[in-house]
Amino acid sequence: MDYAGVDGRRADGTAAGDEVVEPPAAFSDRAVASDPEIYEAFAEEGPEAWRRAADLLDWERPYETVLDDENPPFYQWFPDGRLNAAANCVDRHLDERRNQLAIRWFGKRGERRSYTYLDLHREVNALAAGLRDLGVEEDDVVTLYLPMVPELPIAMLACARIGAPHNVVFAGLSAEALATRIDAADSEYLVTCDGYYRREDAFNQKSKADNARLRAEADLSATVVVDRLGDALDVPLGDDEHEYEAVVAAHDGETVEPVARDATDLLFVMYTSGTTGRPKGVEHATGGYLAHVAWTTRNVLDVRPDDTYWCAADIGWITGHSYGVYGPLSVGTTSVLYEGSPDYPDRDRVWDLIERNAVSVFYTSPTAIRSFMKWGAEYPDAHDLSSIRLLGTVGESITSKAWRWYREHVGGGEAPIVDTWWQTETGAISLATLPGVTPMKPGKVGPPLPGIDARVVDEDGEPVEPGEPGYLTIAAPWPGMLRGLREGDERYRREYWLEGEDGWRYRTGDGATVDGDGYVTILGRVDDVINVRTHRFNTAELESAIVEADGVTEAAVVGDDDGRIVAYVTTRGDVDPDESLREAIGERLAHAVGDVARPDRIVFTPDLPKTRSGKIMRRLLEDIARGDEFGDVSALRNPEVVGEIESAVRKK
Ligand code: WT7
Repeated sequence: MDYAGVDGRRADGTAAGDEVVEPPAAFSDRAVASDPEIYEAFAEEGPEAWRRAADLLDWERPYETVLDDENPPFYQWFPDGRLNAAANCVDRHLDERRNQLAIRWFGKRGERRSYTYLDLHREVNALAAGLRDLGVEEDDVVTLYLPMVPELPIAMLACARIGAPHNVVFAGLSAEALATRIDAADSEYLVTCDGYYRREDAFNQKSKADNARLRAEADLSATVVVDRLGDALDVPLGDDEHEYEAVVAAHDGETVEPVARDATDLLFVMYTSGTTGRPKGVEHATGGYLAHVAWTTRNVLDVRPDDTYWCAADIGWITGHSYGVYGPLSVGTTSVLYEGSPDYPDRDRVWDLIERNAVSVFYTSPTAIRSFMKWGAEYPDAHDLSSIRLLGTVGESITSKAWRWYREHVGGGEAPIVDTWWQTETGAISLATLPGVTPMKPGKVGPPLPGIDARVVDEDGEPVEPGEPGYLTIAAPWPGMLRGLREGDERYRREYWLEGEDGWRYRTGDGATVDGDGYVTILGRVDDVINVRTHRFNTAELESAIVEADGVTEAAVVGDDDGRIVAYVTTRGDVDPDESLREAIGERLAHAVGDVARPDRIVFTPDLPKTRSGKIMRRLLEDIARGDEFGDVSALRNPEVVGEIESAVRKK
């Protein structure tokens, strides 16, 4: 990544306002974090301050050292401590709340299932015993390829219990993407399902898994298959394939001693797009990750055991890992887990679920909020949402307009909103207000959390003036940070770290500004990563799939204001760009990456705007897709193409 391409504009093209909204007194009075001194305390104590987070956990062997920073950027948090993540999320709640609901699941067909902490304990243990029986040992990576069914968090916890790192692959990704991730993670075990419903249709997930298996270089030793569809889909199982239900039944009632892991041992790997076409495997360690996640679940999302909390993100991505599974379960709360879509059977589904479950804390993305706004306030307004105490958002910048809508129509005009900035790599929330302490500024994420040394700097690593665009960096390690990349130390160092005179800086890849009060506004990525529909893609990853379609010569992919994918495509002279080519391009992307990567718009153009050195001006294409003003194009090698592209965009 170079540091080119930051300008002062936000990702959504608007400027963030400076309106200040104080935390409501009624909220602050009973908030988990209510003491403003917390910022100073962290500043004074340095890494030691994070004991507060680690002490929220149960340690099998207490840690003495908080941070080992002898060998930067290979930082080790709580290195001499030992713990088990599943024991922290399940077992330790048994004394106080074994009959409290841990998970309330709502399926696509209106099904419901509830798990108390005791139920969870029983099934996690049975599956852990079953996995062991199939040969899974400590440190074996288990790939999980499941939709939003309770078996997904259960399988994650079963892996954690026996010290087997999990590698969750989003269920919507393609067979090819799954194969790449199985190989890259050296994973010999897979847990998947027969299929799942898409609207009314049964969709065969197992056949994708089978295809992946054929493509993968690695040989899978065993596969466990959840029966999600019952009679709706009959999938024959091979010799080394086992029905999940049978595995659990065979071990029902058994207990498996949680394996004490070093805090620095791998809890999971999660593949995400980086600055090259190949996804990278982000590794999270057990202790620091869980401590940071638990601390932020309590202090930022203000979640307590007596809450009913709903993180709407898919568990297939980091938000679902940290705040759909490990965060809520480590603090012992009740979570809603929802398999369906927000507009099925009707556009009030989300509000219906909030009302039905008296959800008190709701965490979603600006993409979702934009859809809610489009569908109309009449949907939330028709429901009793008075149970809501706090709202959260994550994934991209929220406009001040969307922020107000969210507060007004979902938060009853009262609830604080935490705009949380973080990444797959940071593991847990890193920039956000503390809702009972810190005033909010709609459209700005807020100051860094206590203990997070985030700085917006220029190309030389010097802090920028307030309001000036720069690069968002983090100047000191934090507990939730990735412990490395699956691709090795060198790649980890190269991708993320810069060594300066005053130490090591983590590069987030985001552009940002900071105001006089230290509030950060995120401007969007400065590298070739685009965030669409809360998924993160590398542009080259998508573009290389598009150019594989017959007749396509070049492609450039950008995200638009609504979090949609827009692909600009040039074709060979003898090719007529028509519907069938659009279809073929969509298929290519679905095949290479998954249905989530199908472009929302394909714009055929005779040429792509390029600099004299031949670099595609993606920024300009983004402006055109968003309908924004754009600057001088005379530096282009082919400025005449801009008019053509604009008219092609408007035509469609
Ligand atoms: C990128 C990380 C872990 C969050 C889910 C996505 C963008 C994240 C915000 C926010 C503006 C945000 C950044 C970041 N982002 N939160 N509150 N405001 N932008 O995780 O796929 O690792 O993507 O999402 O660009 O770098 P991810």
